[in-house]
Amino acid sequence: MDPRKNPFNPGAGIPPTAFVGRADVLEVAEIAFDRTREGLFARDMLLLGLRGVGKTVLLNKLHALAKSKELETIKFEVPDTSGDNLARLLVPAANTVLRRLDRMAAAEETLHRAGALLRNFAAIFKVKYEGFTFGASTPEIGADTGDLVADLPEILLALAAAAQRRKTGVVLFLDEVQYLSKAELSALTHACHEVAQTAAPFLFIGAGLPQLAALSGEAKSYAERLFSYMDVRALDHTATARALREAAKTQKADFTSEATDLIFERTKGYPYFVQTWGKFAWDEAAASPIDAETVGKADLDALAHLDQSFFRVRFDRSSDYAKTYLRALAELGPGPHASGKVAEVLGTKSSQVAAVRAGLIDAGMIFSPAHGQTQFTVPLFDDFMRRAMPELKPYTPSRRKS
Ligand SMILES: Nc1ncnc2c1ncn2[C@@H]1O[C@H](COP(=O)(O)OP(=O)(O)O)[C@@H](O)[C@H]1O
Ligand SMILES: [Mg+2]
Repeated sequence: MDPRKNPFNPGAGIPPTAFVGRADVLEVAEIAFDRTREGLFARDMLLLGLRGVGKTVLLNKLHALAKSKELETIKFEVPDTSGDNLARLLVPAANTVLRRLDRMAAAEETLHRAGALLRNFAAIFKVKYEGFTFGASTPEIGADTGDLVADLPEILLALAAAAQRRKTGVVLFLDEVQYLSKAELSALTHACHEVAQTAAPFLFIGAGLPQLAALSGEAKSYAERLFSYMDVRALDHTATARALREAAKTQKADFTSEATDLIFERTKGYPYFVQTWGKFAWDEAAASPIDAETVGKADLDALAHLDQSFFRVRFDRSSDYAKTYLRALAELGPGPHASGKVAEVLGTKSSQVAAVRAGLIDAGMIFSPAHGQTQFTVPLFDDFMRRAMPELKPYTPSRRKS
């Protein structure tokens, strides 16, 4: 059918034509927004799920909802470059909020203070700050210890206080939270904890890979009390059919139920894959309704597209050694699998592959859903690995030539 009218959009963060499911998260967030505005306690949220499952799209929905409720919002994505980015990203975003608040009414005490704090904070973290001109640099005011754990709560509290005077609140949205450094993550957790103990109208909503839930030790019990973890999962059978049929109907087309069944079987309901199959089935189809035979014919194109756009980029970034590890993990199926088992497939011991495993976790390729367990962060990545590297090679430690 006409590709100009194709309503399917596989792509990171691209809003789907038919957004389905997620009613539970939307409801929890809506209540949290209303409570925040009223200065009532609301639990900060962490949306966790595999790549391509729809976290970014959901976070954007929540962002739009918060704005429609006239809350002030800050939103950014943590880049996957190593290093400390939180202060650098937070300052301009917080500055925008202050400017907006300033426009709402004449500047006064809370706003002055927030502006001065932000200036100090920017200076100490060496972030360029073209901020407010009012409120001269005020060393005694704070947010300038250079220790994020001490300074971050001050900034967030000051922002919230300024917002409260304007009868609103602040919601901080962060995507790809797993890329925060350890120090940033603990500073953020600490700041959320500090702010939660006041009546400040502030809410944090983060999204990231599931490894975030596996913080260890003290940080874990702390974070568990603080955040409400929300699993973002694949769509079920009914939601998958709706995502396909409702999108098609915007162009006066439809799928047969055999066709949506087959797409569910192929994609396991992962939104990125559902969009991909929807797109290629649409292009393949001669007429509506799109039937199972057409879906079958689109399989090869859909897979080739996924390999190129979704799997290959991650695969290509890995070293040969890392690829060998990934291939061994794939041999065991979708997982999770005991790390010892993976080493066994490689013909070696866990300790021998601990470093490569840690590197792959940092890179966001795999995660540890529970102690000693390993799983891909990308759904169906095991299938891809077997396509990309048909042969399973044992691990051979590199030896120095003597
Ligand atoms: N609730 C949903 N209903 C239908 N399609 C969705 C939904 N959520 C995400 N998608 C689609 O799935 C793809 C991946 O979404 P994205 O939010 O980028 O995932 P993630 O951030 O988890 O990697 C996009 O093409 C998007 O249009
Ligand atoms: Mg995303």
